[in-house]
Amino acid sequence: MAAMWSPIIALLLLLLPLVPSSSSVITLPLHGNVYPVGHYYVTMKIGKHPKPYFLDIDTGSNLTWLECHHQQLGCQHCTRHLKHPHYSPQLSNLKMECQHKYCDALRKDLAGNNPQCPHQKPHQCHYQIQYLDGTTDGVISIDTISLRGNEKSSFIAFGCGYNQLPQKETSPVDGILGLGMGTVGFVPQLMLNKMITKNIIGHCLGKDGGGYLSFGEQFDLERITWAPMRKYELFYSPGQATLHLNGQQIYKHGVNAVFDSGTCYTYIPARIYNPFVHTVQDMIGSSHREVHDDDLPQCWKFKSIDEVKRLFKPLSLQFHNKIAMHIPAMNYLIHTRSNNWCLAILNGTQIPDGDRRILIGDATMRDMLVIYDNQHGMLGWVNNQQCTRPHPASRL
Ligand SMILES: *[C@@H]1O[C@H](CO)[C@@H](O)[C@H](O)[C@H]1NC(C)=O
Ligand SMILES: *[C@@H]1O[C@H](CO)[C@@H](O)[C@H](O)[C@H]1NC(C)=O
Repeated sequence: MAAMWSPIIALLLLLLPLVPSSSSVITLPLHGNVYPVGHYYVTMKIGKHPKPYFLDIDTGSNLTWLECHHQQLGCQHCTRHLKHPHYSPQLSNLKMECQHKYCDALRKDLAGNNPQCPHQKPHQCHYQIQYLDGTTDGVISIDTISLRGNEKSSFIAFGCGYNQLPQKETSPVDGILGLGMGTVGFVPQLMLNKMITKNIIGHCLGKDGGGYLSFGEQFDLERITWAPMRKYELFYSPGQATLHLNGQQIYKHGVNAVFDSGTCYTYIPARIYNPFVHTVQDMIGSSHREVHDDDLPQCWKFKSIDEVKRLFKPLSLQFHNKIAMHIPAMNYLIHTRSNNWCLAILNGTQIPDGDRRILIGDATMRDMLVIYDNQHGMLGWVNNQQCTRPHPASRL
């Protein structure tokens, strides 16, 4: 999903009243899974009389927004069936001068689209985000978001998306929690509001679903692998990577890899994907014939999970300076409802710019703690985590 959003580059300048907080770490439980839901999301309670909404956690986009019923504009082409009634702010929530610094920053990011404030709507902050297969129109709302039940809340600016094209029939989520590097994002606002003191995001996506998301926590487990963050276009990236299956390098050149929790599967460029699939076929042997599955493209049948574990060897992504991400078989396979085992790594030709980068999606990051440390410009990860409970150091 995130792969499709156009850049939002902005500076957030003081906008909001401060809500003091004693604790500086926020940990939220995650719901959802890679298959069949296709999203990991948090529940956020929004509004003066808080109502729950599901927001997809997305480290690949900056602006937080949700599908929204605008009192004057309605909800045009909104997804027909959501789990919750559409967010419906008061007109007073939508009052933000188009000249406001926050709006100005947001609009500059969306270069090319309506960069000027329209005369007819100077008291609202309208935006349009374009993605390669559609658009969303919205207006910035400032409203209360409750974290940790109802006891801690914060005024946050986020998008009220009143027009989404193309229109979708259903979605398991009401919107997106933008966790990108941008300053119009969610975490910089938590910092401004003194809810957290460090711009550090961590997520642990449970293999069987669930997990947790943390803000402000300085993880210092010994086994974490750290890599310097290289700003690659819009995304969090540890730089160029080569792909290795059971130690064998699949393709001779490296390609930029990015971490994107808003994408469910992992995508690799076709020039790497094709030899990868061949190597996998050689690895499991010709006696295992490919089968068709409605849900994923590259699937096989096996007698037992033990056979799967015996046949599928680990993958790894190798970055500069011998830094590696180990990807056990269970992090690149999906067991489908048709009882097939399918690759959770897909052909980059299916997504925009998929020939230029490796997009590391949720499937690969399952049961890993992944840390985006914007404070120190580092990305960290560690395998074999119990994502079912927050890290012991978290204080709720
Ligand atoms: C998010 O904002 C940052 C900082 O302004 C910018 O570098 C990046 O391109 C934006 N990312 C996306 C996905 O829009
Ligand atoms: C990946 O996509 C390209 C372009 O559609 C196609 O030629 C290629 O065969 C695909 N690779 C695999 C292994 O399916």
